Amino acid sequence: MKLFSEDECPADADFSGRQLLVLGAGYVGEALCRWALGRGINTTAVTRNAETAQGLAELGVRTVTADIAGHDWHTRVPEAPDFVVNCVSSGKGGIEGYRHSYRDGMASMIAWARARGCTGTLVYTSSTSVYPQGGGVRVDESASLLPPASERAEILIETESLARAWPGRAFILRLAGIYGPGRHHLLDALRAGEVALAGKAEHRLNLVHRDDIVSAIWCALAAAPAVSGQVFNVTDDQAVTRAELVTWLSARVGCAMPKFESQASSGRRTVVPERTIDNARIKSVLGWRPLYPSFREGYRQILGA
Ligand SMILES: NC(=O)c1ccc[n+]([C@@H]2O[C@H](COP(=O)([O-])OP(=O)(O)OC[C@H]3O[C@@H](n4cnc5c(N)ncnc54)[C@H](OP(=O)(O)O)[C@@H]3O)[C@@H](O)[C@H]2O)c1
Repeated sequence: MKLFSEDECPADADFSGRQLLVLGAGYVGEALCRWALGRGINTTAVTRNAETAQGLAELGVRTVTADIAGHDWHTRVPEAPDFVVNCVSSGKGGIEGYRHSYRDGMASMIAWARARGCTGTLVYTSSTSVYPQGGGVRVDESASLLPPASERAEILIETESLARAWPGRAFILRLAGIYGPGRHHLLDALRAGEVALAGKAEHRLNLVHRDDIVSAIWCALAAAPAVSGQVFNVTDDQAVTRAELVTWLSARVGCAMPKFESQASSGRRTVVPERTIDNARIKSVLGWRPLYPSFREGYRQILGA
């Protein structure tokens, strides 16, 4: 997996033999594990999903099958890992499932870290959905989170607050909409011959490729000790309207341009406000650069694969 262009690789540092603990290893977590293993890092993942655990174990990851909101994993993971990444996500179980996996999961992690005296660097992957701002504005990390955009946003904000109580350095990465290999809903819809897509054509999307998330996590974990824990937005360089993205994809797939229906799809919980998420801070503080600065580079990689 290539994450960095040749001249800007914090991964040049030798991390072999260091310990990484990943909690909630799904789409992003697995990619992170692969990257870490490739650098000789001892990697342990906590996942409640037995199938995921088996897949990770086959890669060479030490796995612990447990619910991170519980405490039974506390004695089954390395005592004091150098790096800890919480990239748990709850798609199931409604609002209670959300609270359980995010808030209670982070609370359990804090209890564990305090009890063990773990001072390794933490990365928590939050979401740009904590920002309530819409109306086309540009949103950086200084934007107010009040009033919370939704009950789910409120839980994520609470989880971020808990993460700040981590005994070591803690970075909170607010991720934009994730896409990448195996995760490309609009492309799938076009390939399936959908003629009508939900959502407004002119609505801007803030996206980030999975591998650029892994590199952002890595930039945070590998940051010089002088860099204190802080919040960063992680999104590519170019918010794009749905129309622009779909026009480009339709041409690649060779299908007719579908129509947009202004209603959100019935499966969507909330309509994402219209704004541009700013990524200047992570670039200037951590030197992060997306390998896929816009959807074009990202989808070219996906279509090429
Ligand atoms: N999707 C997006 O566009 C988006 C946007 C912004 C931010 N994010 C954030 O990005 C991060 C990575 O997302 P992702 O796409 O990699 O998520 P994902 O593919 O859904 O993976 C999340 C993993 O967490 C596991 N998990 C959930 N609750 C758990 C618990 N209580 N104990 C142990 N494991 C648990 C899931 O296991 P199960 O399979 O058992 O559920 C799954 O393996 C998440 O923090 C998410 O909130 C996502």
